[in-house]
Amino acid sequence: MVAYLLGSIPSGVWIGKVFFHVDIRRHGSGNIGTTNTYRVLGPIAGSIVMALDISKGALATLLPTFFHITTISPLVFGLMAILGHTFSIFDKFKGGKAVATSAGMLLAYKPVLFFVAAGIWILVILLTSMVSLASMIGFTLITIVIFFTHDVFLSILAAILTVFIFYRHRSNISRIRNGTESMVPFGLGNMI
Ligand code: G3P
Repeated sequence: MVAYLLGSIPSGVWIGKVFFHVDIRRHGSGNIGTTNTYRVLGPIAGSIVMALDISKGALATLLPTFFHITTISPLVFGLMAILGHTFSIFDKFKGGKAVATSAGMLLAYKPVLFFVAAGIWILVILLTSMVSLASMIGFTLITIVIFFTHDVFLSILAAILTVFIFYRHRSNISRIRNGTESMVPFGLGNMI
């Protein structure tokens, strides 16, 4: 429950409303995550939302360590935060696309996987200028890497999350296919 509530905090919406008097759900892609916050409110707000959304997944995953709970996998707590982020109790059970919170779960559970995923994500952004594509490719590739760690529960969870992340990006996938997906103002994608 605590992990779900933590994940439910719609940091992008609240930061937009409190500090900018802007509802980011009504602008850009309408998503509440890092990319749309960056797009609508700029790089500082985008970076803060990314840090907060990663922290939600990481903190939830660390909850069983803090409270000495050994009977439930930390991944279950991470998953609850991801579900909170995507079906937020503070946002009529709507929410984000699960990328940053899932990354936070990886950071707390196996930091090396987070840094590999982040490296892939940054590389794809630099090559394509599309954050959505980087999120989908990054999560797919890190799931393949996870399979080789022989962590069965994490492998199953990562596979399910990859499918879910593609599902949450279906509007982005349509725009990528139409050639209308928005790009960040850096990277090789802008030069093609
Ligand atoms: O993590 C979300 C990102 O991959 C796409 O966001 O706003 O471009 O739909 P957005």
